[in-house]
Amino acid sequence: MHQAVITGTGLYTPPHAISNEELVASFNEYARRWNAAHADEIARGELSALADSSVEFIEKASGIKQRYVVDKEGILDPERMCPRIEPRSNESLSVMAEMAVTAARDALAAAGRSVDEIDGVICAASNMQRAYPAMAIEVQQALGIQGWAFDMNVACSSATFGIEQAANAVKLGNARAVLMVNPEICSAHLEWRDRDCHFIFGDVATAVVVERADLAKTAGYEVLGTRLATVFSNNIRNNAGFLNRAEDKNGDLRDKLFVQEGRKVFKEVCPMVAEHIASHLGSLELHPSGVKRFWLHQANLSMNQLIAKRLLEREATLEEAPVILDRYANTSSAGSIIAFHLHGDLAGGELGVISSFGAGYSVGSVVLRKR
Ligand code: COA
Repeated sequence: MHQAVITGTGLYTPPHAISNEELVASFNEYARRWNAAHADEIARGELSALADSSVEFIEKASGIKQRYVVDKEGILDPERMCPRIEPRSNESLSVMAEMAVTAARDALAAAGRSVDEIDGVICAASNMQRAYPAMAIEVQQALGIQGWAFDMNVACSSATFGIEQAANAVKLGNARAVLMVNPEICSAHLEWRDRDCHFIFGDVATAVVVERADLAKTAGYEVLGTRLATVFSNNIRNNAGFLNRAEDKNGDLRDKLFVQEGRKVFKEVCPMVAEHIASHLGSLELHPSGVKRFWLHQANLSMNQLIAKRLLEREATLEEAPVILDRYANTSSAGSIIAFHLHGDLAGGELGVISSFGAGYSVGSVVLRKR
């Protein structure tokens, strides 16, 4: 068995940011128009008027202050409330592959790797641009990588599940180095007309290089262990799929976008994640108090504070559990990797844990030691 190390990470941030103020102004204008258009039904008690969203609620409930998106205008247009993404021909690089390739180049440069030294590509994300061919194969081709590539989806947990697959391939000698990418256009699976969730998501792409320690050109992080777990739940769900057209369903298609029971998710997932990380560390004869940094999935600030508090038995500092969701919002599979990319400055010998969690339910942890 070889030792697997993470030697490079990359990040692509879309050029447009939407502040909570802009988001709320657009939603409230949408609600005003909808209420005016349905005034008679509302007066007769047949429909409920849409209530306003508020910046104060969003910041208090989630910690999110803004999000980056691939298209701002379409999302903020009260007559549209959805990003506008021009279709591309089959001969052009697709939008998600393009984001992934940008992040990947960053990660390869950080690792000091050329494409002919990579043997596999994994695209691990919540939403793929299409059913097939795999996004990962398009990224592989665009970068000029040989070997294999495949897509995988474990929703917000996809990155840690992807790192485990990459690390296993490296450990077994099936690949010298594997590139994992996490392109996320969450703005396209979000119902921007629903005030309960319109503030949650943002768009981004991240990339990670996992390779053999004995071949690595940079110090990087030794992968001490990975652990994955899943328990079925309907509390985060999206029913969009290829059978939709066979279902002859018209009218309310709300379930074909992201839907969640936020309160239940919060209550059920926090203890699950804290126990998962603690027991994973325990199996490696490590203790949370010895961990310098927890790069947690970025969905909700209070959630991360609670998980870190359960682990450390005290409040965590921002250095111990970095926060990027204030700027990026929830970027699904990419969140914990953005935190790792931007706050990965540990000293030799120090320990860190990447943990992602979300729909499934699913939770993954990767225990790292800086070399
Ligand atoms: N502006 C103002 N008020 C709002 C609002 C908005 N944008 N959205 C909801 N509200 C209202 C609700 O209608 C509710 O009013 P009520 O008490 O009169 O019924 C109240 O605020 C509380 O709403 P609730 O949805 O219970 O808030 P919350 O404190 O649970 O926060 C989340 C909502 C989504 C931020 C939070 O539950 C969460 O982040 N959960 C975890 C989600 C998660 O990690 N998911 C993983 C996704 S991958």
